[in-house]
Amino acid sequence: MASKITVEPLRFPKESSINFGAMVSDVDVESLTDDDFAVIRDALFKHQVLVFKNQGHISPKTQFKLTQRFDPSGGDSYGHSKTIDAKRSILHPDLKTIPHQPQVQVIGNGRVASYEGLTDFQLRHPHHRTFHATAIPDSEDLDFTRFYRWHIDAALYGALAPPVVTTLLAVQVPGGRRQTCRYDDGTGDELDVPLGTTAFVSGYTMYEMLSEEDKTFVRGAKIEYAPHPYVWMSSAKSRSDGLGMLSQGLEVPIDELPPHSQDEVQILPMCWRNPVTGKLALQIHPSAVRKLHLADGTIIEDLAEVREIVHRLQRPAIAPKYVYAHDWQEGDLVLFHNRGVLHSVVGAFAEDEVRLFRQCNIAASQFPEGPLPATGIAA
Ligand SMILES: [Fe+2]
Repeated sequence: MASKITVEPLRFPKESSINFGAMVSDVDVESLTDDDFAVIRDALFKHQVLVFKNQGHISPKTQFKLTQRFDPSGGDSYGHSKTIDAKRSILHPDLKTIPHQPQVQVIGNGRVASYEGLTDFQLRHPHHRTFHATAIPDSEDLDFTRFYRWHIDAALYGALAPPVVTTLLAVQVPGGRRQTCRYDDGTGDELDVPLGTTAFVSGYTMYEMLSEEDKTFVRGAKIEYAPHPYVWMSSAKSRSDGLGMLSQGLEVPIDELPPHSQDEVQILPMCWRNPVTGKLALQIHPSAVRKLHLADGTIIEDLAEVREIVHRLQRPAIAPKYVYAHDWQEGDLVLFHNRGVLHSVVGAFAEDEVRLFRQCNIAASQFPEGPLPATGIAA
């Protein structure tokens, strides 16, 4: 039977330039038919971010199964697998694993008495003061905030390929407040956001905004990520816009990282090709970049230079009018195409504001595809 699911692009004020995101309705996520799933899969690759309302009842198992369905041969290990067990990783403190469904993580803020087999545990919403070189003063912290860290969900080391999709379910959401997200980079850019929003930008827009010269450059270039990137960056500090690190020589020295080998270092295309539309997304995890491999074989190793190049390419597309700041309501299930958007945690909660989310992604069976070989015809 044909699916009854409806998919409608999200609507934005006319001053906005957001060109992605869709609302999915008339759907029972607990019992998706193959036809239903085909509609959802197609919609994800076309719209990048899908919002399903009133899904708070779905089980961790259902969330996992839905996530896994996008890449059935991707196995069943969480996107970072055991790489986040390293105590020094910046990702370690932010996740609690559901004991009976270990691919699903609990994230959020505040003290929780009991949830899905976890008891009496503390969640901590990541705060930019722990990651950025500078911070909003405490006296302004409830009114102003920053993008914590623009990223792709990916281990970026070893055999774990970047997940195709991440699913986020809002179980408990503290109500109401809004904050002003500041870029604090001298541009004056700022964005009014709901408390604890997740911010998304399109990698396709990021590519499309480039000059023709830069498009040619990024189509031919690859990024070499650091070994154990989340340990490597743990002692370094981020730019105020959350889009990559400052170069102050503070990274963990390579010879002090957990055991690693050059064979396991990931070197990925700068542009990832959408499997349905064929479009190119500029997909770079800015804080994990270490070297650039150019089309002519040149390798740029100077970290400060590498970061400046990447920031110059990415920054235009995180300007306020391109950012979709999702206004979370309890029961929202959001699926995002992790290979077509960058996202960031935003916001600062008060100690007693309890928020509980479930997150799931799975290391993919294949690495992302880069651009098709040049044909000699201008793209
Ligand atoms: Fe993430």
